[in-house]
Amino acid sequence: MRAFWKGACALALAAMGVGMAHAAKPAPSAWDQDRVLGRGVNIIGYDPLWKDFRQGHFKTYHFFKIRQAGFTTVRIVLQSFEHMDKHNQLPQKWIDTLDWAVNGATHAGLNVIVDEHDYNLCSENPDACHDKLIAFWRQVGHHLRKRNSNVMFELLNEPHGPLDAAKWNATLRELIPIVRRDNPTRTLVIGPTQWNSLHQIDTLELPENDRHIIVTFHYYDPMRFTHQGASWVPAFANVSGVTCCTAEERAKIDSDFDQVSAWSKAHDRPILLGEFGAREGGDMASRVAWTSAVARSAERHEFAWTYWQFDGDFIVWDMKKDDWVRPILGALIPGKG
Ligand code: BGC
Repeated sequence: MRAFWKGACALALAAMGVGMAHAAKPAPSAWDQDRVLGRGVNIIGYDPLWKDFRQGHFKTYHFFKIRQAGFTTVRIVLQSFEHMDKHNQLPQKWIDTLDWAVNGATHAGLNVIVDEHDYNLCSENPDACHDKLIAFWRQVGHHLRKRNSNVMFELLNEPHGPLDAAKWNATLRELIPIVRRDNPTRTLVIGPTQWNSLHQIDTLELPENDRHIIVTFHYYDPMRFTHQGASWVPAFANVSGVTCCTAEERAKIDSDFDQVSAWSKAHDRPILLGEFGAREGGDMASRVAWTSAVARSAERHEFAWTYWQFDGDFIVWDMKKDDWVRPILGALIPGKG
């Protein structure tokens, strides 16, 4: 009798154990995910590795360098449309490169934001973009559906121009349910129109019952300082010698972020500052002052952040020296510079 009950108990416990092992873990809340993201950096958006992997500047060991320096997240910047075939499908070679990036980051202990970055084409010609953006998320969303919750999807970087609030909200109404078929609880990152402007955050219409969304905005103010000499912003292409930051300029960063924070609390949506950076046109002392003011203010406001960007321009990593740009790294991660 005793032996029978012992055996029965063991069986019941084993069954419970098996049951527990198979029970799906509850999906983390977007607020928890935002804390998990923490401090990050944008990577490989303009790296030749997408065309020819052997020509890549970024190598697998860079993921470890990023983690060792104290970052916890990479935002993988994807300009995928130019690689699509006439049916808007991405070739296996491109998918393999994406897998290399997601694996490299996750093995190094980094969280990943998969960011579709064809924002210029999508904004200048939303109709031409529509099918490609949907096809991208059908294919890539399906492909990544079994990844852990620390792989998150950013639906489109910086909609702007004709992709205004009304058009962007209509796109989201169509796109979110498509992504949700394969990824019902994956954290999505979505930002407002006008280059993810904080002044447009109130125009964003998100599905009320979908709480697995982090809202993102980008911050480059004052543009005259961060984009001095930038050829792609005609108003500042010939500007130089602008410094930063006066007490007033610092206070402006805080008050801008206060606005975002108030919106975040009112709508119960956590925030990612997905891009910020001051390009090489400014002097280093000013760039350090601005970068650390923005990063610390974001942290005081409990926003996760991803710095623009690892290499190329606005760099925190110097590919020629294969080493950190120490003053910028120190501004981002205190004590690491
Ligand atoms: C764009 C970059 C640009 C940066 C700052 C990013 O979203 O992809 O080309 O350098 O914003 O302007």
